[in-house]
Amino acid sequence: MDPRIQAAAERFAALLEGQLKRIDDMAAQKRLAGRAGAHTPVIGVCGGDGIGPSITSAARAVLESLLQGEAVEFRDIGGLTIERRAACGKAIPDDVLAELKACDVILKGPTTTPRAGDPWPNIESANVAMRKELDLFANVRPVKVPERGIDWVFFRENTEGAYAVGSQGVHVTPDLAVDFTVTTNGGTERIVRQAFEYAEKTGRKRVTAVTKANVIKATDGKFLSIAKEIALEYPGIAFDDWYIDIMTAKLLDEKRRRDFSVFVLPNLYGDILTDEAAELQGGVGTAGSANIGGRYAMFEAIHGSAPRMVEEGRAQYADPTSLLRASVLLLEHIGQAEKAKLLERALDVCALEERRVTVTGRDTGSTGAAFAEYVLETVEKVRI
Ligand code: IPM
Ligand code: MG
Repeated sequence: MDPRIQAAAERFAALLEGQLKRIDDMAAQKRLAGRAGAHTPVIGVCGGDGIGPSITSAARAVLESLLQGEAVEFRDIGGLTIERRAACGKAIPDDVLAELKACDVILKGPTTTPRAGDPWPNIESANVAMRKELDLFANVRPVKVPERGIDWVFFRENTEGAYAVGSQGVHVTPDLAVDFTVTTNGGTERIVRQAFEYAEKTGRKRVTAVTKANVIKATDGKFLSIAKEIALEYPGIAFDDWYIDIMTAKLLDEKRRRDFSVFVLPNLYGDILTDEAAELQGGVGTAGSANIGGRYAMFEAIHGSAPRMVEEGRAQYADPTSLLRASVLLLEHIGQAEKAKLLERALDVCALEERRVTVTGRDTGSTGAAFAEYVLETVEKVRI
């Protein structure tokens, strides 16, 4: 065999071994899911890079105030900066990972993802690594624009697809690069079920799967056929499926898009479609994201760390809305549904309706901290 093919085949074999082991781990995790006994939930707060520390501290202030007197513990987790990750050569340094695993939920600021050509080593994204390490398989991203009849919740598969071994593609020769995309039965079943269970619990009437199964036949084909099978178990909920290309168009179709409610989709399509959806809501800075697993959950913005804002000395003017929306999801997750509703209502007033304090990302607007104070004042008003 051509030694270059041999070398690539060995890399591929190692990847497959890793994926088969992941399938076993997933099955074991399913058996052990849930926290051992009741204890005070520990909320780890991880500032991240760029504008991360600024918007995270604004969101934390709001959460701490809302949760005053409740049995929760906030814990600072440092060390997830790009400098530290680069120095260790790891997406998540070992000590940081151990601290994360000692928490129940994590509020996480954006982290810089190195790209080829950056001054940083081309290590895996910290978000992606955290989702995999903590097995946060469901990336839940709500988007709503009430005046246009848009009320969507995306269930993005979060540990597989193009991301499963995204940093382990193979340069077979200088002319030939190959990446891999991965779909497993267990990984697909759990995200599809989560989407249907959510629809059932919240009285939503439609679940829509989005794939490219007409072209990516093995992996997307598997995702779609499993979604179709599981849909049969929920006769009260309509199910349809679309291809990702036409779905990106249909999100802009004013007549059609009101019909969509819950989406379930593989990782990469979910990444792309949720940015488009967030843009319809007012921009990626307005959308929060929950990353949910059997044991842990992590809540974050859907946007990046905006290093340019920091270079230009504007970090304090960054908009914390996305992390505040993520905080709504965090409150729901830890069983504080009433407080979650209060915060959501206050955010609607502050960001969409009244808009007395606005954040523009520059000194033409107020700081993220001032916006957080405005949200807290509004919480008190909507409470009555
Ligand atoms: C997201 C982000 C990440 C992703 C990046 C930062 C790796 O775009 O959370 O959507 O691709 O998942
Ligand atoms: Mg994205």
